[in-house]
Amino acid sequence: HAVYLRAGGVVVAEVFGKRQSPDPKTYAGKGKVDEIGAMVAAGDADLVIFNHELSPAQERNLERAIKCRVIDRTSLILDIFALRASSAEGKLQVELAQLEHLSTRLVRGWTHLERQRGGIGMRGPGEKQLETDRRLLGNRVKLLKDRLQKLSRQRGVQRKARMRGDVLNISLVGYTNAGKSTLFNSLTHAGVYEADQLFATLDTTSRKLWIEGAGNMVISDTVGFIRALPHSLVDAFHATLEVATHADLLLHVVDSASHARDEQIDEVNKVLREIDADKVRQVIAWNKIDLTDAQPGVERGEYGNIARVRVSARTGEGLDLLRESLAEYARAKAEARQK
Ligand code: GTP
Repeated sequence: HAVYLRAGGVVVAEVFGKRQSPDPKTYAGKGKVDEIGAMVAAGDADLVIFNHELSPAQERNLERAIKCRVIDRTSLILDIFALRASSAEGKLQVELAQLEHLSTRLVRGWTHLERQRGGIGMRGPGEKQLETDRRLLGNRVKLLKDRLQKLSRQRGVQRKARMRGDVLNISLVGYTNAGKSTLFNSLTHAGVYEADQLFATLDTTSRKLWIEGAGNMVISDTVGFIRALPHSLVDAFHATLEVATHADLLLHVVDSASHARDEQIDEVNKVLREIDADKVRQVIAWNKIDLTDAQPGVERGEYGNIARVRVSARTGEGLDLLRESLAEYARAKAEARQK
């Protein structure tokens, strides 16, 4: 449930279900819907979250049957995005995705719901926006897209300026909660917001990192990856990852203590392929070894390249090895340039 708590909710009940294929009208079958309805009444719930994508019609039908507000996984993720977005670009991207998600749901109206006590899913563009017509919504979407384009051009210029320098560009990538922000902070001592929360980082943050014997590097933190990101959120997510495509080195942070570790690694690599960042050199920061039996250390691939560094961003174990590994890459880059 952690994810719902992270969005600011309190879980009163959880319902699991298995169906060959979803019911076209209500996603869950009749029996399941009744069960949820009874639980909502018993627990005095304000909101039901489906961990699936629902069509607008399915949401409406479910709300009628359950007599409670129903949102889907996309809305929940958007809500968390909205809570976390900090930069101008992140905010624009979230609002754009919210408006696009909303525009398919505009027809439904909210009159069939008596209780609207706010909370998860309500921190959107606001109730007033719901009443505006599609044309206004369309105008706003266009405006946001224009602004985003302008921002992305500016970012391109900034990046070029940065790339002209001789510094090594490192991007931290990894599954959500892997410990990217913690590692970023312990490497740079910068005060980036770090928390046991999904999507603590929505925007890329770049900092200078100075390593003895190798000089300056630029290290960028990126937003966390999640499994099966809703399709409508892919653009917003990919845009925040653009920096990874242009990096000299990807530091792929892995929560080595997670039971879903291997799937998370695969998921991250899949997205990296989608944004053409799979050709960028990658070093795995095998993080959270304080929770496992592993010792700090450096593992090399068959050509002697550093493949994996075992660290704990929390206790600092192995960070000296990681710094030294980054320095090794920086020196290799400097040598390659001289040739
Ligand atoms: P997103 O921003 O959601 O993508 O997460 P992130 O990858 O930036 O993770 P973050 O740094 O916020 O860390 C997530 C949680 O893991 C926090 O509670 C951290 O304190 C914890 N954490 C990070 N590194 C370590 C570590 O080496 N050991 C332990 N035990 N916990 C860690």
